[in-house]
Amino acid sequence: MESFLIKGGVPLHGEVTISGSKNAALPIMAAALLTDEPCVLHRVPDLSDTRFMVKILESLGATARSEAGTLTIHARKIKGYADYDLVRKMRGSICIAGPLLARLKRARISLPGGCIIGARPINLHLKGFAALGAKIKIEGGYVEASVRKLTGNSVFLGGRAGPTVLGTANVMMAATLGEGVTVIESAACEPEVVDLANFLQAMGANIAGAGSPTITITGVPKLHGAEHNIIPDRIEAATFLIAAGATDGEVTLKGARGDHLRAVIDKLSEAGVAVERSGANLVARRKSRLKPADVTTMPYAGFPTDVQAQMMSLLALAPGISIITERIFESRFMHVSELARLGADIEIEGPSAIVKGGRPLSGAPVMASDLRASAALVIAGLAAKGSTQVNRIYHLDRGYEGMDLKLRGLGARIARVEEQAA
Ligand code: EPZ
Repeated sequence: MESFLIKGGVPLHGEVTISGSKNAALPIMAAALLTDEPCVLHRVPDLSDTRFMVKILESLGATARSEAGTLTIHARKIKGYADYDLVRKMRGSICIAGPLLARLKRARISLPGGCIIGARPINLHLKGFAALGAKIKIEGGYVEASVRKLTGNSVFLGGRAGPTVLGTANVMMAATLGEGVTVIESAACEPEVVDLANFLQAMGANIAGAGSPTITITGVPKLHGAEHNIIPDRIEAATFLIAAGATDGEVTLKGARGDHLRAVIDKLSEAGVAVERSGANLVARRKSRLKPADVTTMPYAGFPTDVQAQMMSLLALAPGISIITERIFESRFMHVSELARLGADIEIEGPSAIVKGGRPLSGAPVMASDLRASAALVIAGLAAKGSTQVNRIYHLDRGYEGMDLKLRGLGARIARVEEQAA
């Protein structure tokens, strides 16, 4: 297994190009199943998650060809069955269910199971499919959805933690080929949902309200192939903005969308990190010493749960008390014990982490546990004195394209090594 070896204490300086969004690319890749014509997707990030989604689409019978960030997917003829081994490994693959149900009128998908940040149920996805007329059967760890004819309907998709991003994506995709009008209430408003809706409209779908809590889809008989540019990854961008603040550097993010990052930029400003727009770029630098701030994760346009861990690393450096409350997932504090190994003073109280910031961090070997927790450990290692070895960085490679290369380009002393060699 590979590790990152980081020699901390170097302020990051320079320019970094933000890749296409993983969480936009995955449902958009699945949406290519809705047509028997080829779809051309630009700026698909080269990640283990996107490579895995290609494998899943090929296992369904689609062909995929990628060169230099452009992916052509052609689902001329497909089958409606994705096996456990494939779906189990990547939760995001659940978003093939809606397209399969719409195209083939049936889908047999293994239940994705939970992951380290929470139970990850799909009850709201299934509620949406049932509202469209699907019969749902769960047996042997598989969910089977089948329908004679998808019929438009209204459905409320709000759950215990608010809207569901992939649930909204799944029901929206299924409804594009349903008969009549579907209204999704309490729809997710994330930019990735808007990007998917834009791609579906380019395919000929009739969608209104994407980005608002009410999305209206009027079914059409068929969708055609389309070409699409994936939006930049706002979570990767937030990660680099925070790394710039944590190392007291100055970093220009090329191609980042400031309008997708308002809550993050606002919180960074409160913590003493200025983020300014310069043309199509964002520039981050400290504007004062770091200050404590309270953060609560919320559905979009609130502070994103996918940036919670990274923000904790920054606030561990800010003298004073910061309270970070995680409202979306039930166990997304796996990074706390590892940050403590670097000297951070953090106590968990139920859904909140009390960060007593300001003590300098010092390097140590730490273990990555999930995608965003790994990013938090890298940020902390960049700011810590001495060497930090972040183990199991396959978690990181799921969602960050060439993070070590990008950080080295900003002057960081970081190397990718085999774990035992480190
Ligand atoms: C998407 O996951 C993202 N993944 C996650 O990013 C992100 O953290 C999450 O949205 C929230 O923003 C992709 O887009 C591939 P949800 P998703 O359904 O759609 C509960 C990353 O790091 N819920 O919006 O699976 C659920 O338990 C990943 O890039 C139900 O109760 O998340 C959670 O508490 C991690 N029933 C809340 O809703 C359901 O049927 C939000 O989950 C579905 C979800």
